[in-house]
Amino acid sequence: MADPMKFRNVEVLAPMVRAGTLPLRLECLRYGASLVYGEEIIDRKLIGAQRVENHAFGCIDYVSPREKVSVFSTCATETKKVIFQLGTASAPLAVEAARLVCQDVSGIDVNMGCPKSFSVKGGMGAALLDKPEVVAEILTSLRRALPSEKSLTCKIRMLPSTDKTRDFMRICEKSGAEAITVHLRLRDERPAEPAHWDEMARVWDAVKVPVLANGDFFNRRQIDEFWKHCSEKECQVSGVMIARGALWNPSIFSRDPPNFDDMVKSYVRSAVATNSTYQNTKWVLSQMLAGGTGVTVPTSFNGISMKVFNRELSATKSMAQICTAFGEPHDQSKYPTRAHTTVFYKDFAFED
Ligand code: FNR
Repeated sequence: MADPMKFRNVEVLAPMVRAGTLPLRLECLRYGASLVYGEEIIDRKLIGAQRVENHAFGCIDYVSPREKVSVFSTCATETKKVIFQLGTASAPLAVEAARLVCQDVSGIDVNMGCPKSFSVKGGMGAALLDKPEVVAEILTSLRRALPSEKSLTCKIRMLPSTDKTRDFMRICEKSGAEAITVHLRLRDERPAEPAHWDEMARVWDAVKVPVLANGDFFNRRQIDEFWKHCSEKECQVSGVMIARGALWNPSIFSRDPPNFDDMVKSYVRSAVATNSTYQNTKWVLSQMLAGGTGVTVPTSFNGISMKVFNRELSATKSMAQICTAFGEPHDQSKYPTRAHTTVFYKDFAFED
C-alpha cells in the first residue's frame, strides 16, 4: 500500500515540460520540496525507450532508440520522491508506459489539465475533463497494473462549475487516484490570469484523498498566506504545487534560502553533474534570470549587469561555455561532455 501520508502537508514541484528535468528536480528537493513531478511525457514517447544505467553520471536514462536521446532521466537520489507525469488518452498505452518506468519512480500522475492543442487534439490533457469514462478506464487500469507501493495521482483543472469539478474529482478518487491536484484555473484561462484560490474551499471536501492546490505561488510569503487562508476557512488542503515560482527560484521551498547568485550557480553545478544538455540548461537559466511576477531578480549577476550577462548567456553554445559564464568549473575528466554520452548512446546495442 502506498504511504497514506505521502501527499499530506506537502509542498511539491509541479510538472513542467522543458523545465522539470532532473537538475531542477534535484535542486528543489535539496531546498526542501516534499515531492517533485517530472515534465509530462507522452505514453508513446516512452514506450520503446530503453533503460540505460549511465554510470558516468550515476543516472538512469530512458533512451529512445530512434532518436538516441534520453526521453527521461532520473537517479537514485530522487527515486522515492519523483512522480512521473504521463500524457495519455489510452488505458493500454498508459499501462505499458507506466510499467516500463515504475521501478525508478515513486508514483505515476496523469495529466488532465494541459489545454495545448497537441494534447487536446490527441484526447489527452484537458480533453480528459470531458471524458470521465476514459479517465475511469485509465486510472483503474493503472491502479491494477502498478505495484501497490507506487502512488497513482492526477492533475486536473477546474471544470465550468464547482459541482462539475467536485463530480470529476469523485470519479478520479473512485477510479483509484490517491491524490488530486487542482490547478485553480479554468481550461481556457491563461497563466497571466489570476488563479482562483477561493475555489479550493469549495472543492477540497468532495473527496477523502488529499487535494493539492496549484496556481500562483511565487514566493514564500504567498505560500504561507495560502496555508493561513485555508486554515481560517477550515479548508483542509493537503498541499501546494508550485510551477513557475520554482522555475524562477527553486529555493522557494526553503525557509533559509541562499542568495540569488548562489542559487543559480548551484543549478549550473547540478545540470553539469546530471549530464543535462546545454540547450535545456541555457533555457532554464534564462527563465531564472528573467524571473516573473512576485519574484525579485537582482539587477546584476556575479557583479555584471544583468543585461550584459544575459547577452553572454545567449551566446553560449556548450556546457563548458555556460560554466565559464557562470564562473563554475567544468572538469571534463570528471564530467565527460554531452558529446561523449551521445556517442555512448550511438554505440549502445539497442534491442529490436
Ligand atoms: C507547465 N504546466 C504543466 N502542467 C502539467 O500538468 N504538465 C506539464 O508538463 C506542464 N508543463 C509546463 C511547462 C511550463 C514551462 C509551465 C510554466 C507550466 C502547468 C503547471 O504545472 C502549472 O499547472 C501552471 O503553471 C500553474 O502553476 P503556477 O505556474 O502558477 O505555479
